[in-house]
Amino acid sequence: MELPIWRNFSPAQRTPSILILVSLTLIILGLIPLYHPFYRYPVNLVVVHSSKITSPPYHTTKDKKIKIMEREDMCNVFIGDWVPNSDAPYYTNTTCWAIHEHQNCMKYGRPDTEFLKWKWKPKGCELPIFNPYQFLDMMRNKSMAFIGDSVGRNQMQSLICLLSRVEYPIDISYDEDQNFRTWKYTTYNFTLAAYWSPYLVTVKESDPDGPSHTGLFNLYLDEPDPKWTTQIEQFNYLILNSAHWFTRCSVYYEKNQIIGCRYCGLPNVTDLPINYGYQKALKTTLKAINSLEKFKGVTFLRTIAPSHFEGGEWNKGGNCVRKGPFRSNETSLDGVSLEFYKTQVEEFKVAAEEGKKKGKRFRLLDMTQAMLLRPDGHPSRYGHWPNENVVLYNDCVHWCLPGPIDSWSDFLLHMLKMEGRRALEEKLQLKQGVKKEWQS
Ligand SMILES: *[C@@H]1O[C@H](CO)[C@@H](O)[C@H](O)[C@H]1NC(C)=O
Ligand SMILES: *[C@@H]1O[C@H](CO)[C@@H](O)[C@H](O)[C@H]1NC(C)=O
Ligand SMILES: *[C@@H]1O[C@H](CO)[C@@H](O)[C@H](O)[C@H]1NC(C)=O
Ligand SMILES: *[C@@H]1O[C@H](CO)[C@@H](O)[C@H](O)[C@H]1NC(C)=O
Ligand SMILES: *[C@@H]1O[C@H](CO)[C@@H](O)[C@H](O)[C@H]1NC(C)=O
Repeated sequence: MELPIWRNFSPAQRTPSILILVSLTLIILGLIPLYHPFYRYPVNLVVVHSSKITSPPYHTTKDKKIKIMEREDMCNVFIGDWVPNSDAPYYTNTTCWAIHEHQNCMKYGRPDTEFLKWKWKPKGCELPIFNPYQFLDMMRNKSMAFIGDSVGRNQMQSLICLLSRVEYPIDISYDEDQNFRTWKYTTYNFTLAAYWSPYLVTVKESDPDGPSHTGLFNLYLDEPDPKWTTQIEQFNYLILNSAHWFTRCSVYYEKNQIIGCRYCGLPNVTDLPINYGYQKALKTTLKAINSLEKFKGVTFLRTIAPSHFEGGEWNKGGNCVRKGPFRSNETSLDGVSLEFYKTQVEEFKVAAEEGKKKGKRFRLLDMTQAMLLRPDGHPSRYGHWPNENVVLYNDCVHWCLPGPIDSWSDFLLHMLKMEGRRALEEKLQLKQGVKKEWQS
């Protein structure tokens, strides 16, 4: 089955190779502290339910102890390395039906299996492997929506496969549109939904035979895509992603007027830097969430998972043929991926600050570093039969299922567990703040 998302996919159309080489040391020492203030918790307090730790079971006190201790969660779980894991994978293409055709690498003859046998080891702490029972238990009566492009769909299908050890969802979508699906895990009353919106803002495909004969995408950078903004107020968790599509040729609109474009070649239309459209669109998106009155959920912004074309661009013979991960000292983020990543972190920061005033929670699902190290995890030419004519012949953008993208659920579950603790902390801070005000 060829989904339109697939047909239209051309990740780096007419992108000039921008070479911004930044050493990894710089990223770790410079960028990360600068852009990751949100993983450093403001207070060094852990709330421990005393009954769990020290009290015997018959101890009925409801007192909570506040302990000052070395915070394990001070550790940035997104910085680390891949280590061998002989237990993986946790499903196969015969146990899970949710694998998208183009990511079913084993079916299309991928010969090596080493790429399946790794897990993420954060520097200075541990990241437990995803536990589907625990996840579903935490999601009782809850709802989660994936909003974005086909890499977001890739993540969602990975999650469905990991959960398939416990339960399969039933499709409760109200129509046949494959770009908008809703599923239910009936035993857990957990709703999972997917909204296809690769730009997150409103997009209109130009009429290819229109006056300008361009076939370009028209992006309305200041208009969030109503296809998802009108649907998500009741959700408990949103997982947003975007990036790859912004490398394509498009015409940018603000206030309904053309303000410039990306490689459109139209007379009198200014060509803008690659990041211009993305920054505006992401700002618009996050603002839209902040202004949804009824939305009370948590928004996870998933950062860019870099593509790994080597030896050429996606349409110029580039491919990804490695069979194992890089170590963290062997590569670094550069070029367009770095630009997009910085934009994501910046816009996240702005939105999270604004959100605090409005009782909205934003979290960064910061997958970039981990995925940068996995050039071996893409379908490459094993996303279709060799004689098939597909646009992205060597796919170094999406991820094989099973494969390294399964670890995103390890991170997601970790962050969901942290949510409870963070909520408590924020309440505590609030109380402390009130107390201080009272005393002064
Ligand atoms: C699963 O992968 C195997 C190769 O490992 C392949 O022979 C088979 O056709 C695949 N099955 C499905 C349902 O994709
Ligand atoms: C889920 O909802 C049902 C019905 O409203 C309620 O009885 C149950 O306690 C809820 N469970 C959780 C874990 O919130
Ligand atoms: C399912 O969860 C919703 C909240 O998301 C709740 O309103 C409803 O009562 C629950 N239904 C059951 C049968 O537990
Ligand atoms: C571009 O701008 C110039 C100067 O303002 C004008 O003469 C010309 O007609 C414009 N071309 C188009 C195609 O709009
Ligand atoms: C990267 O680190 C590993 C282990 O710490 C070391 O063995 C290796 O030589 C380093 N590689 C480079 C390119 O620095």
